[in-house]
Amino acid sequence: MRDLPKVELHLHLEGAAPPKFIRGLAKEKNVNLDGVFDANGHYAHTDFIDFLRVYEAATEVLQSPMDFYRLTRAILSECAENGVVYAETFMSPDFCGGRDLGAWKEYLHAIQEAAAEAEAQDGIILKGIVTCIRHFGPDKARETAKCAAETAGDFVTGYGIGGDESAGSLRDFAWSFDMAREAGLRITAHAGEWGGPESVREAIDDLRAERVGHGVRAIEDLGLVDELAARGTVLEVCPGSNVSLGVYPDWSSHPIAKLRARGVKVTVSTDDPPFFHTSMVNEYEQLNRAFGWDQADFAALNKTAIEAAFCDEATRTKVKKRLETAA
Ligand code: ADE
Ligand code: ZN
Repeated sequence: MRDLPKVELHLHLEGAAPPKFIRGLAKEKNVNLDGVFDANGHYAHTDFIDFLRVYEAATEVLQSPMDFYRLTRAILSECAENGVVYAETFMSPDFCGGRDLGAWKEYLHAIQEAAAEAEAQDGIILKGIVTCIRHFGPDKARETAKCAAETAGDFVTGYGIGGDESAGSLRDFAWSFDMAREAGLRITAHAGEWGGPESVREAIDDLRAERVGHGVRAIEDLGLVDELAARGTVLEVCPGSNVSLGVYPDWSSHPIAKLRARGVKVTVSTDDPPFFHTSMVNEYEQLNRAFGWDQADFAALNKTAIEAAFCDEATRTKVKKRLETAA
């Protein structure tokens, strides 16, 4: 599984931070992280809302562009060790200078520098999706969209939304999504993880998302599933995250195989791997165990993912070749 070349489309930059990395920064900067780690040194969270609390508390040690440079290097080395050849990461200006455009540009520069070095060293390619945070509200999302629009280009290629799905409605964020789209950014939105099928419908209708983060609860409305299949909407499925957070009780209950069998374009990612004790290799191994997916299934999955990637055509062609020569 390790050597199989993989494409990962749904990975939160801060959420992928290894606990050891965060603890190291906390020590350097004298930041108190009580309540963030358990006795074993893992992130300590009890449910989804608590996960968001721990996630945001851990970001308090990420205080400078250099911290994000080091974080990006650490994450991409982890990705490369899992056979990931192309990744997209969610980046939040909220945690990079508080949505100030000048600061955001400096943080982004540092992230891109780390990505360029990782590409030179390991051949892994990274693109960025600027992401607003739902429970921070639509006004902050407008500032986030401004940061995204001002830096749209070869590296920043998408705009998205994460956070607490019970906060407000996706429609409230349409203005910021319109702004991002007008700047040429591609659109994805978290929905159908905690919200039901109606939240997936909001993502595709109100935000015109071409990809949906998770989207798995669409399975509760087969009419919607058929519509996703007909439209070619791509789901960024993170089964290990869903099982770990209790959206589904175990891997065999996860709807990814059913969604795929009904014609929906599914892809596989880790979301926030250390929080959910997972990795891309683990995701593939569990899918093999739960549904018998083999090399051919994984090759098809990665082909779907690179076709749905928010990258330029030259990059897509290059990564496709890497996938094909390994098949
Ligand atoms: N931010 C980081 N991980 C997330 C998830 N799984 N759902 C919503 N927002 C997130
Ligand atoms: Zn996510």
